[in-house]
Amino acid sequence: MAQRIRKAVFPVAGLGTRFLPATKTVPKEMLPIIDRPLIQYAVDEAIEAGCETLIFVTNRYKHAVADYFDKAYELEQKLEKAGKLEQLALVREILPPHVRAVFVTQAEALGLGHAVLCAKPVVGDEPFAVLLPDDLIWNRGPGALKQMADHAEAEDVGVVAVQDVPRALTGSYGIVSAPDFNQRHGLIQAIVEKPDPTDAPSTLAVVGRYVLPPGIFHYLETAAPGAGGEIQLTDAIARLITDTRVDAYRFKGTRFDCGTHMGLIEATIRFALDHETLSEGARATMQAALDELGVRIVE
Ligand code: G1P
Repeated sequence: MAQRIRKAVFPVAGLGTRFLPATKTVPKEMLPIIDRPLIQYAVDEAIEAGCETLIFVTNRYKHAVADYFDKAYELEQKLEKAGKLEQLALVREILPPHVRAVFVTQAEALGLGHAVLCAKPVVGDEPFAVLLPDDLIWNRGPGALKQMADHAEAEDVGVVAVQDVPRALTGSYGIVSAPDFNQRHGLIQAIVEKPDPTDAPSTLAVVGRYVLPPGIFHYLETAAPGAGGEIQLTDAIARLITDTRVDAYRFKGTRFDCGTHMGLIEATIRFALDHETLSEGARATMQAALDELGVRIVE
């Protein structure tokens, strides 16, 4: 048994240019699926997995993320006075009392690997999680990170989440080679960032959830710029696996790539259709819209 993760890193310093003009003032992590910002889903997943220290790697423009996790005295007072206790609970429960949020600044946008390295002084010498909030993962049972953290603890390995993608899409992902993959997990023997479909060692793509040993920092500190001229987390993992076991893990659940328009739309539709109080209305609205456009859904 290895040490359980207690800390989670959320790289949230990206510019979110795909969602301009909205992201001119609203960080992409604050875009909502129904009424909860993307970052909240990732945070809940980390807390469920056992994390108590949440480290947000942000830039100087991203006050909204820090404000969101800060206590809002005025709002709470107003809701209390107005007797809006349900809403008051929603605001108060953003973070449970045993969890603390720490903010670290990434002064320059030098890549995902560099963002993770910025969290080193807070992570220290223990295993930790990295969650990319763009990747929203939905599961009826335990969340993806909990599944991975359990595996990491039981097997004393690092863990990288993967899913199968069409070969044509390997250029958008980190791709792993795990020859002994047993449907659920397998030791990573190679990992490469965004290979061309013709060069990709497999079609097992990295999804934005990682459980990493502190040894990764050494490789991030000494990393040379990789794909896109950025310090890549994938490249550091490629060097880490020369001395540390890291498993690829095919989690149970559905992943929505909310870094794209279609992913955000898909997640919104799926969450609305599954929503306790909104599902009926959502179904009726979608049906009406499809009827109006003359679109038939093939059964
Ligand atoms: C990052 C990682 C990539 C991973 C992807 C998952 O890429 O570098 O290895 O497959 O997240 O979402 P990005 O999407 O930030 O370009």
